[in-house]
Amino acid sequence: MIAVRALSKSFTTDRGRVEVLKDVNLDIEAGERIAIVGASGAGKTTLMHLLGGLDRPSSGSVFFADKNISRFSAQELDVFRNRSIGFVFQFHQLLPEFSALENVMMPALIGRCHEKEARSRASEILSAVGLAHRLDHKPGQLSGGEQQRVAIARSLIMSPKLLLADEPTGNLDSVTSDEILALLDRLHAERDLTIVVVTHSEKVAGQMDRIVHMVDGFLEK
Ligand SMILES: Nc1ncnc2c1ncn2[C@@H]1O[C@H](COP(=O)(O)OP(=O)(O)OP(=O)(O)O)[C@@H](O)[C@H]1O
Ligand SMILES: [Mg+2]
Repeated sequence: MIAVRALSKSFTTDRGRVEVLKDVNLDIEAGERIAIVGASGAGKTTLMHLLGGLDRPSSGSVFFADKNISRFSAQELDVFRNRSIGFVFQFHQLLPEFSALENVMMPALIGRCHEKEARSRASEILSAVGLAHRLDHKPGQLSGGEQQRVAIARSLIMSPKLLLADEPTGNLDSVTSDEILALLDRLHAERDLTIVVVTHSEKVAGQMDRIVHMVDGFLEK
């Protein structure tokens, strides 16, 4: 499903060039659940951004179902991200002035879905993640675990094939993080989702099909 080939990424800063990813190769099968683990600064988030087309490689490619997304135009990437990828970030990145329902509707509206349809899909997914009673709450009126569930609901409204989750339980207590983990498990089974999760938690990593280690910009074999 996804093939990462000789992927490198460097950033130019005031102090010169920083090589963050160095010749990364990775194959991800459809339906697989992969954990990426590694020290802070190893390049995990950078890799997730490249996998999801949020940023472009310095060299190398990311193939998604045989299409080289690294060659997509900006507009093609926008459409691709909207339809094919769900993102869950460590800090949920919900829009504070919008309700849970509106936050979840957002990708559907951006994807030109009719408002009525977007609304009904959003409330359906929010119910599926156990938040039917919190539709009109704003992020600030929700607990950390609830916010993360809203973020997961938002990531799934377009029925993506791939879910990229960067530390989805990083800010949650262990009970809440178990709930999120169980939710990801259920969504994987019900929706045939491929999941790539960055985590510092051995428990989260242990529940995936495969663990890959990132060390200083390299993926260890
Ligand atoms: N836009 C940028 N410009 C310059 N350097 C960057 C940029 N983004 C990331 N880096 C550097 O790349 C390295 C890897 O960053 P990245 O965010 O991928 O690490 P990480 O593995 O996700 O770490 P953490 O576990 O702390 O989230 C860091 O040293 C960081 O400072
Ligand atoms: Mg990170």
